[in-house]
Amino acid sequence: MGRVALVTGGSRGIGAAISKALQADGCTVAATYAGNDEKAAAFTAETGIKTYKWNVGDYEACKAGIAQVVADLGPIQILVNNAGITRDAPFHKMTPEHWKEVIDTNLSGVFNMTHNVWGGMREAKFGRVVTISSINGQKGQFAQANYAASKAGDIGFTKALALEGARAGITVNIVAPGYINTEMMSTIPEKVMNEVILPQIPVGRLGEADEIARCVAFLASDDAGFITGSTVSANGGQYLA
Ligand code: CAA
Repeated sequence: MGRVALVTGGSRGIGAAISKALQADGCTVAATYAGNDEKAAAFTAETGIKTYKWNVGDYEACKAGIAQVVADLGPIQILVNNAGITRDAPFHKMTPEHWKEVIDTNLSGVFNMTHNVWGGMREAKFGRVVTISSINGQKGQFAQANYAASKAGDIGFTKALALEGARAGITVNIVAPGYINTEMMSTIPEKVMNEVILPQIPVGRLGEADEIARCVAFLASDDAGFITGSTVSANGGQYLA
């Protein structure tokens, strides 16, 4: 049996592609999801990957959920913090709720999950933590003060933790996708997509979820043992960090 990998938001979109890529690499994968029972059940039926429902923004739920995954599958060696949401609005229309929901999921969720696997990884003297940030955490984005702040925060978190994990055999890295062809794009008005976003992508297309999953699978592999604290940008040349 391969390593145990836990992927948050792992039953849909980029997360589903990551779960499948890690499974293809021989891992035993568990995927968390927040709400969509139907999609999660279909994903398990299709892949055999176990799904678990909890809110990554809730520390105690993460603690209990992770304990359950460990009881079912064994200690977690690979954590992929993929769960993320948008609540886009120009800042003058952004509400405290828009701010809090995004920070709770995209930034505090990364703390809540990582904190609850960190002790086990330190004991095992091995671990891989990969967090999905975003091009918009690197460059900023109109109508995303909340999202950009959360995703930039993930990068700072990762750099700090990489220093702490280094001597314990734990690597901590970021993948920063550009605009990827998933459901998240459906919140962007067609006019904005065609007239503002697509013309800014030098390769002339959206990315595919598999293209992000392959970056994550590499960072999670033994081959990537000397890479830590890094940000891998996969954005079709839209932003050269
Ligand atoms: N860049 C530049 N201008 C933008 C823009 C963008 N990305 N998005 C919207 N605008 C402009 C619109 O064209 C419009 O301009 P005009 O008034 O000249 O027509 C104006 O902003 C809209 O202003 P409103 O006050 O009317 O905005 P609204 O309250 O109706 O909100 C919106 C609309 C929520 C901003 C909506 O346009 C939207 O969702 N835009 C997309 C924002 C975006 O790019 N988000 C990234 C999502 S992808 C992602 O998050 C994944 C990832 O990691 C890459």
